[in-house]
Amino acid sequence: MNINHDKQALQQNAGVVERWEKIENRFYFYGQQTVLEVKIVSDGVIRFRFSALGNFHRDFSYSHAQHYQQHIEQLEVSEEEEYFVIKTAKLDCEIQKERMLIKILDKKGLVISEDEKGFHWEEHKKHGGEIVFNTRKGQAGERFYGLGDKPTDTDIREKRFENWGKDTYAFGKDSDPLYKNIPFFIGMHHKVAYGIFFDNSFRTFFDFGFERKNATSFWAQGGEMNYYFIYGPELLNVVQTYTEMTCKPEMPPLWALGFHQCKWSYYPEKQVREITSEFRTRKIPCDAFYLDIDYMDGFRCFTWHPEHFPKPKKMIQDLEAQGFKTVVIIDPGIKIDPNYWVYKEGLEKGYFCKRMDGPLMKGAVWPGECNFPDFTRPEVREWWAGLFEGLMDTGVRGVWNDMNEPAVFEIETFPNDVRHDYDGDPCSHRKAHNVYGMQMARATYEGVKKFGENKRPFVITRSGYSGLQKYSSVWTGDNVASWEHLAIANNQCQRLSVSGISYCGTDIGGFIGSPSGELFVRWIQLGIFHMFCRVHSSGDHGDQEPWSFGVEVELLTKKFIELRYKLLPYIYTTFYQHVQTGMPTLRPLPFVAQDDTETYNRQDEFCMGENLLVCPILAEKVDGRWLYLPEGKWYYYWDDQEFDGKQEVWAEAALDRVPLFVKAGAVIPMAPVMQYVGEFDPEALFLHVYVNSGEYSSYLYEDKGDGYEYTEGVYCYKTFVTHGDKKSFTITQNIEGSYNPVYNTYEIMIHGLNFTPKSCEVDGEKVHIDVINPDKNLIRIDVDKGFGKIVIK
Ligand code: GLC
Repeated sequence: MNINHDKQALQQNAGVVERWEKIENRFYFYGQQTVLEVKIVSDGVIRFRFSALGNFHRDFSYSHAQHYQQHIEQLEVSEEEEYFVIKTAKLDCEIQKERMLIKILDKKGLVISEDEKGFHWEEHKKHGGEIVFNTRKGQAGERFYGLGDKPTDTDIREKRFENWGKDTYAFGKDSDPLYKNIPFFIGMHHKVAYGIFFDNSFRTFFDFGFERKNATSFWAQGGEMNYYFIYGPELLNVVQTYTEMTCKPEMPPLWALGFHQCKWSYYPEKQVREITSEFRTRKIPCDAFYLDIDYMDGFRCFTWHPEHFPKPKKMIQDLEAQGFKTVVIIDPGIKIDPNYWVYKEGLEKGYFCKRMDGPLMKGAVWPGECNFPDFTRPEVREWWAGLFEGLMDTGVRGVWNDMNEPAVFEIETFPNDVRHDYDGDPCSHRKAHNVYGMQMARATYEGVKKFGENKRPFVITRSGYSGLQKYSSVWTGDNVASWEHLAIANNQCQRLSVSGISYCGTDIGGFIGSPSGELFVRWIQLGIFHMFCRVHSSGDHGDQEPWSFGVEVELLTKKFIELRYKLLPYIYTTFYQHVQTGMPTLRPLPFVAQDDTETYNRQDEFCMGENLLVCPILAEKVDGRWLYLPEGKWYYYWDDQEFDGKQEVWAEAALDRVPLFVKAGAVIPMAPVMQYVGEFDPEALFLHVYVNSGEYSSYLYEDKGDGYEYTEGVYCYKTFVTHGDKKSFTITQNIEGSYNPVYNTYEIMIHGLNFTPKSCEVDGEKVHIDVINPDKNLIRIDVDKGFGKIVIK
């Protein structure tokens, strides 16, 4: 259903402020009917809550944002003739008396956000309650980012979107809605960024100047107008703050950042053994192997197919011995079968969702007719978590939650009248739909963690709401093996990252259809830079193992998967920084060079972490591409060619290269190639150092790769500071934390030295320099991992 936004006659506005009060960091403005609560969350975050009828509902959200409160440096309020002003150390917030219109300015007086119609509402005649709207003025040159998995351009201005998670098999460019519901966007104008998180789980809509060019709106088909304004001014600050508000994830196990292979479906056991052995024989690294729905007995969750997988424990043990972790799919639909223990338990305990008049919610999914647990009920989540005991005991190491929009054949999803507990505040599916998948992933995460013997849980989900990142990684659902989809994949993962969900990836190669070998290679070249790196396909369209496309493709795929494994220390560090600070792992170009307006129209290029810039090849039969490099000096990864930023450059990239640039000054930590994480104890770690003039800091995070000792100090965080001038180059190392990595040596490769080195001293002692390539000034030195300072002259 589409709400006609211009039905003026039916719409009511907030009306005149009659009185106001301040309670600690909250301000209340009372109209005849309307109440506005303005809560100062921090100097840069303000929460606005409107009630059309004078009283607020329970303050509860699955996003957890309502609990976020930071120190407030300054808080003053004053009353002018036409408005009130609340001042924090970073913002001035004006609340107009006549209609409670809100205007937010920074300390330089720049209007960052200004209401047009502001808060207004319409009675929801069909369902009761209100449809709540907010309309703001569009600002000159304003651009918009975020909103989760929308398969469209990075900048979403002049478009309209909807959040109502949907099973969208073979979605296309601009399909909407998709699987995830992330009511958070970022706006930027005059080089200043802010975010708005509309924390409302009903069906929500966002319009960025689509309906009327100079107005941007968001609205929901129920619930409260409840949103957070998040000040940047940097785009990345907005993402960090939003991610902190809605909870950062914990560290994943290191293996889960390796390469994953999946198909619908690998079975029986013999095939699983064959494919996994092929990986080892062909020496293509792989850490995780997936079992899709056919591992189950008649698609009954928490069971094994007796003939296809007669001895799952033994099989999983054997796979483990070869370095494979087994991940299995679990869907929400529980088969209606009186002889099936999960069904019986769920039924007896009354844990399945009910229709309005009492019957259970019944719908067909893979197993046929099913009932569905109400994951918005705490006891049900606990029960669900408990169901994982058996799977975990069998050796499963990760769980893949699918169909949790929830998807139902023929009728798409649950009808609106289905009842949910919503953690003690019962409601209909209209309010619970958008959080259903997230609560399933949450319960799954609890189960995997509970029975994981102190190992870090790994969960992947298709649907979810803001904050899902606390519990799970995601993939982007049923994409298609086409060049257009490769570009969509690039945009979706960048978008998810700046929407708080860094742990994301796509079905590499495409789920539907068969990629050409060339497309497969280009997709792998992108996929290795996504935190979640998995090949998945619907098996009936042909094979999608790395060797399915002939020898050339196999060797290229291997080369790029190997690059992923080499980069794991860098990727792990980038993830750690995300976990610590909410910094997204993928950063679209405008996010890394906000001052450079040239970046605003770029969407293919992105940075992964602080020091790598990637620009995938998205077209067939090309040997390279133009791309834009932001300010600074950059090295082309493949041949150390140096480029100055702030210009378009041509990157040579035949099928054996992906345009990959390294920031000058950076130290990129790399590991030896392993077939799986932990295959052997390396003797050395490689540090690739890219010379720059001036000073630059890079980081390396290390820990045991699994378990929780890192939370008790058993980790190390290393800072490398490089400094270059015309005659010398120095690297210093500072180590924090008590973890002692197994290797003893750093093999340091120094790229791009701008003078002929005569001597090298490490902590005052002379060390031998290996000149690897005199033309390119590539040298190598081996040093103890505990070094303090290296001086090359
Ligand atoms: C859905 C999923 C897909 C999976 C299939 C069978 O289409 O999106 O990844 O393979 O169901 O479980």
